[in-house]
Amino acid sequence: MGKSAVRDPFVPKIVVAIDFGTHGSGFAWATVSDLQDLAKHRSIVYKDFTAQGGSNSYPKDLTTVLVDVHGEAVAFGFEARRRWQAESRGNPNGFGYAARFKMALRADAPPADVPRFLGSLAGADHTVVRKLIAAYLRRLYTTALQEIEATSFGGIGFSAQHIRWCITVPAIWTDSEKRAMRDAAKAAGIPSDEERLLLVSEPEAAAVYCALTSGTLLEPDRPEGRLSVETPGSRFMVVDCGGGTVDITSYQIRPEGVGDDRLAEIGIADGGRLGSAYINQHFVDEVLGDRFGDEELKALLVSHPQEIAALEDRWEGWKVGLHSETGPDGTPVFTMPCDIEVPGRLWEALSQPTRERLTELAYGEPYHLVILPHEIAALHESVVGRILETIEGQRRIVLDNGPVKGVDQIIMVGGFARSTYLRDRIAQRFGGKVTVIMPQDPAVAVLGGAVHFAYDPAVIRGRRSKFTYGFECAMSYREGTDPEGLHFRDELGDDMCNDRFHVMVKRGAQVTVGEVVKATIRVQSSSVVFDLGLFATYSDDPQYINEAGCERVGTVTADTSGSVKVPFPKRYLDIYYTFGGTEIAIETQDRTSGVRRKATIEFTELHGRRGRDRTGG
Ligand SMILES: Nc1ncnc2c1ncn2[C@@H]1O[C@H](COP(=O)(O)OP(=O)(O)OP(=O)(O)O)[C@@H](O)[C@H]1O
Ligand SMILES: [Mg+2]
Repeated sequence: MGKSAVRDPFVPKIVVAIDFGTHGSGFAWATVSDLQDLAKHRSIVYKDFTAQGGSNSYPKDLTTVLVDVHGEAVAFGFEARRRWQAESRGNPNGFGYAARFKMALRADAPPADVPRFLGSLAGADHTVVRKLIAAYLRRLYTTALQEIEATSFGGIGFSAQHIRWCITVPAIWTDSEKRAMRDAAKAAGIPSDEERLLLVSEPEAAAVYCALTSGTLLEPDRPEGRLSVETPGSRFMVVDCGGGTVDITSYQIRPEGVGDDRLAEIGIADGGRLGSAYINQHFVDEVLGDRFGDEELKALLVSHPQEIAALEDRWEGWKVGLHSETGPDGTPVFTMPCDIEVPGRLWEALSQPTRERLTELAYGEPYHLVILPHEIAALHESVVGRILETIEGQRRIVLDNGPVKGVDQIIMVGGFARSTYLRDRIAQRFGGKVTVIMPQDPAVAVLGGAVHFAYDPAVIRGRRSKFTYGFECAMSYREGTDPEGLHFRDELGDDMCNDRFHVMVKRGAQVTVGEVVKATIRVQSSSVVFDLGLFATYSDDPQYINEAGCERVGTVTADTSGSVKVPFPKRYLDIYYTFGGTEIAIETQDRTSGVRRKATIEFTELHGRRGRDRTGG
């Protein structure tokens, strides 16, 4: 085994990051120049979507799409929602409306998942989801190009071909989901080859943002202080609390032997479908289910989808403005009920007993839905409890890596981090042991960090491998250990064992970005191509490629034509694995001809991963 460095031949002039979120999406960009090479001097331009939304400046638009009767996207974001809600009863134009569809990208998204497909999109499946994501990305892509061109940078020789794009993805996404995202980007017209389009995990981007903008101002009313990035070896956990997912990763600041402004991942990315949108789903299932009765709710979801959606949006409006009080033992409590106005058309459709019940709960006022403080807390607890468990699990992994050096910190980012209830629950559970902090603008952390990452991907020095990766090969036969069925003699008469798992990197091992690991095998058959199977498993020490838990994640078709006439002992194939990017690159090289083949990897789903994905319900 040997190591060598790889160079990225593509040098961007502009870097653009896209944060495609479950709830909201946006983009931001920076120009590449000597003046901007130092992260702290870099100026990042955020696209402001406030005009369509509300009063506070906000870098994201809603992730919603309105499609016409032919299924073509006609409006996005706040505009799509406005037009959908203005549609008259019965949806005469045959529009379809989609929100929260990011989480339905995977073919086997759990039934309890949160996408909202209304009108002609009702019952949409994941092929529609891919189309919607591509349409939304295309819209962000063209808007970004227009924005950039509209600035003076257009005059200095800017061209779309000088841009490096970076799209953020949840840390818990599997390789096949990431591939689907890349495909959607390609369908949107974004150059999708690996050098022009990077994918970065959302909490990782947030970690970069927090570490690079050291001295980040933290919430003024929370006196915990600033992120300590001064002590080399300090570590911090980033908890990205979004609409769809809560993603967690842990980092060490300036690990030994590494320069300034560098981070290394020390945990294993974890998280779950625990975002704030699940609170809304519980609002519909639990609160509306309780008030209307399950049967009536089911019928109303079909007969009055716009009104139910409007009710949910009103709840969303309350939710983001809620403020919890801190009880004597540190437990957050809500003290005020929520009072939501019920759309007239919906009220008229309710049964008489339901109307009477609602009126009674609303202190005699009709057209109102009152949600009591203990119900509000229960809705939050539907995800908060499991978020705490996931953080606990991550702390355990990190502590297994050795004692704390410097300061131990939890940084909360993402829109859901604004929830005082969630923050207080985290502080209550972990506050004695760690400092819980939040950047002043948790909403831009992912986007800003992704721009920094696209500018200088080496900012992340190392990552932890989520799985043990390797390839299939024959190894010397171990008498008494290897199964008889796998035994064979090779052309030299040596006793060999088939189907062995050659480990390239173990689960949890630290891999440095850009570092290439090389291994060499001898090819048995003298054919012009050779299919090398690539495998992954949770096991630390897999022996055979077909043992329980091992899954084929791809195949590299190596070009071995140069070695066809070479005698077996010298029929060498070198295999290079580049780990540490957000994807894995595998290259083979025929030793005789020097012909290289990059992996055309067809990623498949790892069944083992499903078990770990803590799904709602
Ligand atoms: N005070 C609050 N309490 C609870 N949730 C909140 C609050 N403020 C914002 N949110 C939620 O934050 C979410 C938006 O956050 P963010 O923009 O980070 O999500 P996203 O990036 O779209 O989602 P993801 O990263 O999961 O794909 C919305 O679901 C919103 O309801
Ligand atoms: Mg997000």
